[in-house]
Amino acid sequence: MSQKIKWGIISTGHISSKFADALKTLPQAELIAVASRNQESATEFAKKHNIPKAYPTYQELAADPDIDVVYIGTPHSFHFENSVMCMRKGKSVLCEKAFTINAKEAKEMVQIAHEENVFLMEAMIPRHIPLLKKLKKWITDGRIGDVRMVKASRCAHGTFATGARHLTPELGGGSLLDVGVYVISFASWIFNKAPVEVVGLGHIGELGSDEQGVAILKYDKGEIADLSFALKTNAVDEAYILGTNGYIKVHELFAVPTKASLFVNNKEVDVIEEVIIGNALNYEAEEVMRCLNEGLKESPHMPLYESIQIMEIMDKIRKTWDLTYPNDKI
Ligand SMILES: NC(=O)c1ccc[n+]([C@@H]2O[C@H](COP(=O)([O-])OP(=O)(O)OC[C@H]3O[C@@H](n4cnc5c(N)ncnc54)[C@H](OP(=O)(O)O)[C@@H]3O)[C@@H](O)[C@H]2O)c1
Repeated sequence: MSQKIKWGIISTGHISSKFADALKTLPQAELIAVASRNQESATEFAKKHNIPKAYPTYQELAADPDIDVVYIGTPHSFHFENSVMCMRKGKSVLCEKAFTINAKEAKEMVQIAHEENVFLMEAMIPRHIPLLKKLKKWITDGRIGDVRMVKASRCAHGTFATGARHLTPELGGGSLLDVGVYVISFASWIFNKAPVEVVGLGHIGELGSDEQGVAILKYDKGEIADLSFALKTNAVDEAYILGTNGYIKVHELFAVPTKASLFVNNKEVDVIEEVIIGNALNYEAEEVMRCLNEGLKESPHMPLYESIQIMEIMDKIRKTWDLTYPNDKI
């Protein structure tokens, strides 16, 4: 039996709470500490999730010698700072998407992981969903011929309070980093190479962040990804992989899918259906622990070169819109 992996969580927001729930379902995981920017939130979170230590600063958690790996659940603009702080204290890190706010930060973060010889991974749930792994076999078995296009849409249709991270530029808010990252990561996963051309259009709303956008990526053999993303628009969250002999539809919600269909001559010829176990964050936590047990410093399913490549694509997309974040260091 492998050793227990001791986790810490930085931040007490929405996704951190879900991550704590996910860890409870994994026998190998032990959640031993949480940190917030204030003691009250840390204590409340620790009580809710039955966590022994509650720190009033992120620094104190990073310095805790008992922790093996830290989950970073802060807004995008803090991913670099928080991850680096933990890695400099010898901790492995699972950092929420988007990995950073730009490629420059992503490259530095990966460099520091190498220097400190610690594990680092971007938390991108779809990479670890069993159905998507099975779907990839349809492609490698040649069932749709050569893949020529990907079409994917990921939209949240929320109303967000002023100051909430989603649309606040200082926090790296906006549709590109928040949900666009899913469709870009999906295209990257399918084509497994960097695009040679990137164009996009985005709408910057009254808060100064991108409320919605589209991007077209073109690859060296003429393959194209047609991607859309939005935070205030009601849309179907599905994906298509289009080949020379057929196509695959990943049904809604494509980022955590339970159904995919294979079409040949416009007829559905095969289907994969698979339930999601838990709240899906468990899959990425399991992958981190598998890698730690095997002594890996990164996951083959979400490699670090790809997290950098995805940030480079997002830099290029927003360059076409002239969008920068207040704390951009491009
Ligand atoms: N994988 C997924 O399905 C998924 C879903 C939603 C979000 N996410 C990602 O998870 C991250 C956090 O999203 P969330 O929805 O959990 O956000 P959230 O509810 O707003 O929580 C963010 C937390 O970050 C901390 N924080 C530190 N500095 C902050 C600042 N200046 N302003 C606001 N909060 C600050 C706060 O915790 P303390 O007060 O305790 O310090 C806050 O509760 C983002 O990267 C997001 O893209 C992933």
